[in-house]
Amino acid sequence: MAGEKTRIAVLVSGGGTNLQALIDAQGRGEIPDGEIALVISNHPGAYALERAARAGIETAVCPRAKGEPREAFEAKILGALQAHDIEMIVLAGFMAILSADFVARWPERIINIHPSLIPSFCGEGFYGLHVHEAALRYGVKVTGATVHYVNEIPDGGRIIAQKAVEIREGDTPEVLQRRVMEQAEWILLPRAAQTVAKRIRMEREQ
Ligand code: GRF
Repeated sequence: MAGEKTRIAVLVSGGGTNLQALIDAQGRGEIPDGEIALVISNHPGAYALERAARAGIETAVCPRAKGEPREAFEAKILGALQAHDIEMIVLAGFMAILSADFVARWPERIINIHPSLIPSFCGEGFYGLHVHEAALRYGVKVTGATVHYVNEIPDGGRIIAQKAVEIREGDTPEVLQRRVMEQAEWILLPRAAQTVAKRIRMEREQ
């Protein structure tokens, strides 16, 4: 596969605005070393799946059935990744925590976007609006977004990129969430994806 772009899978669960940012960046030629080859959702109804389909990207749905062991759920994801020769994973609003076994198979090959400046407001329980509620409750004046490698500790892997966003008087969690997306997440994630895709491509070509 020498010379080819790094094949990227994006894992999603919901609306997929970060996926859209990746698709748009790819369309503008801003991810020259990577190719979004697959979108996997653990929710069949995720709007992100429609965004992928509209962009002509293959999709897979891997739900976790009630009571299904995590290994079985992850085996389905691994199967889809292998079937599409995926080399790199982007978690973009994927609302399931991957096991240590799973992430150990992909060292420095999985990245995640988190809507705060890690190590603040991160780890278990800090997802979605909870992150922004916590930042407002604490009274921090600056928040932001972080892209990091995924390891066995939730939000604990090495940081790749961060961008700060100011908090304004009267912000609600919803308003802050939107500003963090617009001013940080949607800019940071495509850039970080390109950086990592380039590294993986270079490693393959060595
Ligand atoms: C984003 O805030 C992201 O930082 C977090 O989950 C949210 C996903 O939003 N990990 P979307 O599905 O990309 O719109």
